[in-house]
Amino acid sequence: SRIEERTKVLVAKNQELEGFTYSVSHDMRSPLRAMVSNAAIVVEEEGERLSAEGRAKLSRLSDAATKMAQLVDDLLQFARVGVREMRKSPTDIPELARTVAGQIDPAHGTIDLKITVPQGTSADVDARLVGMALYNLFDNAAKYRAGTEPAKVELGWENRFGERVFFVRDQGIGFDMKYVHKLFIPFERLHRDAEYRGTGIGLANVKRAVERHGGLLWAESEGPGKGATFYFTLGQAP
Ligand SMILES: Nc1ncnc2c1ncn2[C@@H]1O[C@H](COP(=O)(O)OP(=O)(O)O)[C@@H](O)[C@H]1O
Ligand SMILES: [Mg+2]
Repeated sequence: SRIEERTKVLVAKNQELEGFTYSVSHDMRSPLRAMVSNAAIVVEEEGERLSAEGRAKLSRLSDAATKMAQLVDDLLQFARVGVREMRKSPTDIPELARTVAGQIDPAHGTIDLKITVPQGTSADVDARLVGMALYNLFDNAAKYRAGTEPAKVELGWENRFGERVFFVRDQGIGFDMKYVHKLFIPFERLHRDAEYRGTGIGLANVKRAVERHGGLLWAESEGPGKGATFYFTLGQAP
C-alpha cells in the first residue's frame, strides 16, 4: 500500500541520517583531539615565550576544543544507541543497577541507592542499553542533588495498568514542569553549565534506549527544589 511504501522510504531516510551523523561525528574526533593536544603542547613547550594574553587565548582555544570534542563524543554515542544491534537476554535489574551505580563519575557526586525493586527481578532486555539508561539516571541524580551528599536515590517499580513501570526518584533540585518537554531533546539543558557541567545528551540516550525496547519514558517534579522522578517501561508485563 501507499502507506507501507512511504514508511519504507522514511525508515530508509532515517537510517541514512543516522549513518551520516555517525560518520561525521566519528571523523571529527581525531582533528579535535589534535587541536586539544597541540594547544597543550604549545603551552607546555613554548608557554614561557608567549605573552600572558597569548597564553590565555590559547587556553580558551583549548577549552573550546575540549568542549566540542565532548559534544562530538556525545553525538557519536547518541548515534550508536540508535543503530546498535539489540541483544536481549534475561537480566537481573537490581544487580545491573548496583553495578552501574558503582561507575558514577565521583566528580558528579555520590549516591546512596535504595533499591525497592524485589531482589532477583529479571527482564528480557539489552543489558548494555538498560545499564546505560540507569547509569545516566543515577549520574543525573548525583549531579542535580540539593547540596547534600550522597544524594538519596530510589530505584523502584509500580504495577500500572498491567505494565511494569520502573522509576528512579531523587530528592534533588528538581525542575519546573513547564519545561519538562525539553528534558529528552538532545543538547537541551534546564540548568546552567557554570553550575552543573554537562552536554544535555544523557536523557536523550535514555529515551532511545527505552524506546528501542518498545517502552516509554517520562519525568515528574513537584517543582524546583522538590526532587525529580523518572519513570520508564521496557515493554514487559509485570
Ligand atoms: N535528576 C534530575 N533533577 C533535576 N533536573 C534534571 C535531572 N536529570 C536531568 N535534569 C535536567 O535535564 C537536563 C538534561 O539532562 P541530561 O540529558 O542528562 O544532560 P546533562 O546532564 O548533560 O545536562 C539537565 O541539564 C538538567 O537540567
Ligand atoms: Mg546527564
